Amino acid sequence: MALESSVNRIGVLTSGGDAPGMNAAIRGVVRTAQCCGIDCVGIRHGYAGLIRGEFIPLNEKVVKGITARGGTMLYSARSQEFMLDEGKKRAAEVCRFSGIEGLVIIGGDGTFKGGSGLAAHGVNVVGIPCTIDNDIGCTSYAIGFDTASNTAAEAVDRLNDTMQSHERCSVVEVMGRGAGHLALKVGIATGATIVMVPEIEYDFDRDVIGRIRTARLAGRTNFTVIVAEAMGPVREIAGKINEATGIETRVTELGHIQRGGSPHVRDRVAATIMGYKAVELLAKGQGGRVIAMQGEEFVDYDITEALSMTKDFDYATYKMFTAFTFLDKSTLCI
Ligand code: F6P
Repeated sequence: MALESSVNRIGVLTSGGDAPGMNAAIRGVVRTAQCCGIDCVGIRHGYAGLIRGEFIPLNEKVVKGITARGGTMLYSARSQEFMLDEGKKRAAEVCRFSGIEGLVIIGGDGTFKGGSGLAAHGVNVVGIPCTIDNDIGCTSYAIGFDTASNTAAEAVDRLNDTMQSHERCSVVEVMGRGAGHLALKVGIATGATIVMVPEIEYDFDRDVIGRIRTARLAGRTNFTVIVAEAMGPVREIAGKINEATGIETRVTELGHIQRGGSPHVRDRVAATIMGYKAVELLAKGQGGRVIAMQGEEFVDYDITEALSMTKDFDYATYKMFTAFTFLDKSTLCI
């Protein structure tokens, strides 16, 4: 299919917390732009770099081999100046001076909020959802989530080995910003005893201590509690478990290790397709959009509509996890 383009030059930037797959998205953008005869400019350090005009030329040579690399070759940043309307106005002016007729913005909700401000100043932007938190309302899947889930699960598997040897309890904090999507995925994948997420209310004695006791009575000798970072100080949680159960408890904060590493196939492929789709829209002169996934399908939304959408927590899967972990049919929703 030949892509006809009504634009001559586009830019691409990554913003906010990085995620595995950002580089694959950049490559998808660059190669598609080249297909269409569009000049592609990389903007370093996100919106801060846009304001400062930190541009680098991008072509197939520059992006060669980056699909398999974690992080972002364009660097990422959070810009205070860009938060203000004056900053957005300045960034829009920079786009105009530099002949940038369309901008691909790769990141999470914060990135899209910035993008919608830029769109209000007349810049054609298209967003690509990328965050290990998978907390973007308009898309069932955000790039980076699968790789981060696997990285965290692998780390918990290792912890489980040593917890089993010493008959201990492992309290593991995973990332997720204000959401528990990552924690739930990791908990299910590793056969955790308990998953604590901000979307669920807990009675600590009943739902944490009580369940550990139940598991112990059922013959379990080591325990894993996966805690989403939004649940508060993980050391406090571990301290309470140690005190109430007498089980030696250890804390691990997985931290930024979850954001690094070579992206898994799912992230590489979704990122590449989204990069293509973003340029396809810009080439047609369309902007103010966000590429998203609904199941396995790629769709796009108006950026304002996308920002108003909220993401539901998967309560059904959470209930299923609790039911079969404790062999308790009463918590099942079927
Ligand atoms: O949004 C991605 C994320 O990794 C969150 O899970 C986490 O809360 C935050 O970014 C950490 O941000 P920083 O890298 O600035 O410490």
